[in-house]
Amino acid sequence: MLRDDLTPTTRLITGASSGIGLALVEYWLSRQHPVIAVSRHASQCETLQSLQQKGLPLRCIDTDIADPDQLEALTKRLKEWEAAPQQIINCVGLLHDATTGQAPEKRLEDINLQRLQQSFAINTFAPILLARALLPLMPRRQPGIFASISARVGSIEDNHLGGWYSYRASKAAQNQLLRTLSVETRRRYPQLCVLALHPGTTDTPLSAPFQRNVPEGKLFSPQRAARQLAEIIDHAGEAQHGRFIAWDGKPIPW
Ligand SMILES: NC(=O)c1ccc[n+]([C@@H]2O[C@H](COP(=O)([O-])OP(=O)(O)OC[C@H]3O[C@@H](n4cnc5c(N)ncnc54)[C@H](OP(=O)(O)O)[C@@H]3O)[C@@H](O)[C@H]2O)c1
Repeated sequence: MLRDDLTPTTRLITGASSGIGLALVEYWLSRQHPVIAVSRHASQCETLQSLQQKGLPLRCIDTDIADPDQLEALTKRLKEWEAAPQQIINCVGLLHDATTGQAPEKRLEDINLQRLQQSFAINTFAPILLARALLPLMPRRQPGIFASISARVGSIEDNHLGGWYSYRASKAAQNQLLRTLSVETRRRYPQLCVLALHPGTTDTPLSAPFQRNVPEGKLFSPQRAARQLAEIIDHAGEAQHGRFIAWDGKPIPW
């Protein structure tokens, strides 16, 4: 178990400009824990900038984690800073794309190759490329976390409704990559805990067009989702390693 109360933990959070990622940045900064915020547009994010201006222990880096060259530059920068995060939390994800107007598929006819590829690039390949790039910077013999936000709809066993082909499949594939990583890291990083997390339906730009049928009281604010996830992350240990866990701490079937 990580003892945050005793030793400040440095966390690197991706997808830090919006929604759950940004709320996690704010959550840990409010406890004076150092955060490295990674976002495609960190330097233009007003909230991140204002947190920095308050003198909080926040460093921001512009990186698109779906681009291996940018990940290499990120690693280089972290080495220059001599920054070795003990926790890496990936909050990058794509459900719909406002720039192209692409909505999640409702039926087979909606499938197109470009959308499948984009979903996999961001929801599947980016998290494992992030792990490949940054794990060598993490302390090998100390407790650590590599957590990535997945989604319950990525559960194959739980899929009774259908639809959202590319999002579901890309999150299911992310889960498999994380599970595989958890097996390998057991040997190489014996104290690292690898987690796939479901935040619960949360009021962010990602879910905004799809909130109509969310039952009363079931839509979390980003702050509540962040608090719940932080609780899981900061208490995660052997029992959680390599698991797919929901916001309430309960396991989700793969
Ligand atoms: N909201 C929900 O109800 C819900 C439910 C289940 C799972 N999730 C998962 O939770 C995670 C966080 O989502 P959120 O709800 O906080 O959504 P959000 O506010 O839309 O944030 C998603 C982040 O993903 C990154 N991103 C989006 N499109 C991208 C692209 N084309 N290329 C690279 N990066 C891109 C952005 O990072 P930058 O900072 O780089 O711009 C953005 O900050 C996602 O993995 C999502 O699938 C959310």
